[in-house]
This record gives sequence, C-alpha cells and structure tokens, in this order.
Amino acid sequence: MTVYAIIGGTGLTRLEGLSIHQSLPLDTPYGAPSADIQKGEYAGREVLFLARHGHPHRFPPHQVNYRANLWALKQAGAEAILAVNAVGGIHPAMGSGHFCVPHQLIDYTSGREHTYFADDLEQVTHIDFSYPYSESLRQQLIAALAAEGCEFSSQGVYACTQGPRLETVAEIARLERDGCDIVGMTGMPEAALARELELDYACLALVVNPAAGKSVTVISMAEIEQALQDGMGKVKSTLARVLVANR
Ligand code: HPA
Repeated sequence: MTVYAIIGGTGLTRLEGLSIHQSLPLDTPYGAPSADIQKGEYAGREVLFLARHGHPHRFPPHQVNYRANLWALKQAGAEAILAVNAVGGIHPAMGSGHFCVPHQLIDYTSGREHTYFADDLEQVTHIDFSYPYSESLRQQLIAALAAEGCEFSSQGVYACTQGPRLETVAEIARLERDGCDIVGMTGMPEAALARELELDYACLALVVNPAAGKSVTVISMAEIEQALQDGMGKVKSTLARVLVANR
C-alpha cells in the first residue's frame, strides 16, 4: 500500500486526530528537517506528518530546509506527498476560503537550496518537470474536495514567491499577466525536490486572502489567521477522505 505523507503548512503545524505511534527525529545529509516526522494513524490509515515550518511555527518560507524535509520523508518511507499550502488568491474565482488543486506552477523564488543534484555529481541530471504535480494525487484531492462539498478549482497555476513579505500590487499584476491564479511562498523548491526523489506530490491550496490589489483593503494578518481557522477543518477532512479512499 502506498505510504502517504502530509506536509502541513501555516495553520497546520499539528494534525489533530493523528494518533502518533512514533516521532522520528531524523537527520539528513542536508541537515535536520523542520520538525520530527510523526508516524501514526489518521482516518484509520498509517500516515507520516511533517510540519513544514516546524512545530511550533518557526521557519519562514525562505528558511525552510526543503531538502532536509523531503529527504527525511523519503527516509521515513513516504511515497506520496499531500502538501498543504496557504495562498493568496489572484484569479477572481479564488476568494478567501476557496480551495485550489494546482496543475502548474511558476517559480519566482531565488537563493533557496533547490536541488539534490549539486555535489559530487557523476553525471548532470535534468529531471522532467513539465507537469510538476502527480495527476493521480491531484485527482484524489479533487474527488475528496467534491465529496466534502468544498468550493474549489480543480486546476490553477501556483506562483511561488520568495517572501517573507507579501507582494506589491504591481508584482501581483505581473503574476496575473503570467497566467498565475494563486500565490504562495512554499510550493517551491518543495515540488521539484519531491520529483528529484521520485516521490508523487500534489498540493492542496487554501486561499486565505485576496492577493495584493485584489481587494479594496490592504492584507492583514488578522484576516489571514481568520481564514486559516475557518478553512483548516475542511483541509483536515479532505485529507482524511483521501486516506479513507485509499485504505
Ligand atoms: N502572497 C504570498 N503568499 C501568501 C499569500 C499572499 O498573498 N497569502 C498566503 N500566502
């Protein structure tokens, strides 16, 4: 049976309902992951869980050790990764509380450790990344969101920005011209590293604010926190449905 791992983002540093059997304090050639990997049972199924920003939340998006995180998950036996990401909405359909299962991404980050293929190479490797997300995992998330009765988009282009600041109005306008629908800070290099390790990977994105310039007010942390609080119940039940369907 496929071993699923959940990477929890902002608002999901702990997976309530996960009965933890083991907390794995793993080390990797790239350093320590953001937190121990928790191995346990969720919705009646074995699953691994990692808090992307640490537990408690302490690593900002540009300081997350993505290489250690993905490596440690692979070491712990993960085969399929469900990544949860809070995002800003760019497309008019992507209001707060909306879910999106992106099918494409554009990477606007810089200076992050973004590959395993860097040191002591015997040969130069270029992974195929035409389709950054696993279509099978995407379909599992889509089916679960539909069954859960969530408002969602079954595709979208995820823009990954460097952060930790939010974007300017002009930057969001550019991302929109580029064809991006949602914007976050943690989707990359995570997705590419998963591909390098041959792990299936898909993203469950929850819109927690309209992106800069997409509402009449400026973005407040209070609105983001409220949307996270409102949406996390659905995130958890959607993840549970994916696991139940694969029991
Ligand atoms: N921009 C980038 N990342 C985000 C946003 C945003 O508006 N909201 C949540 N994560």
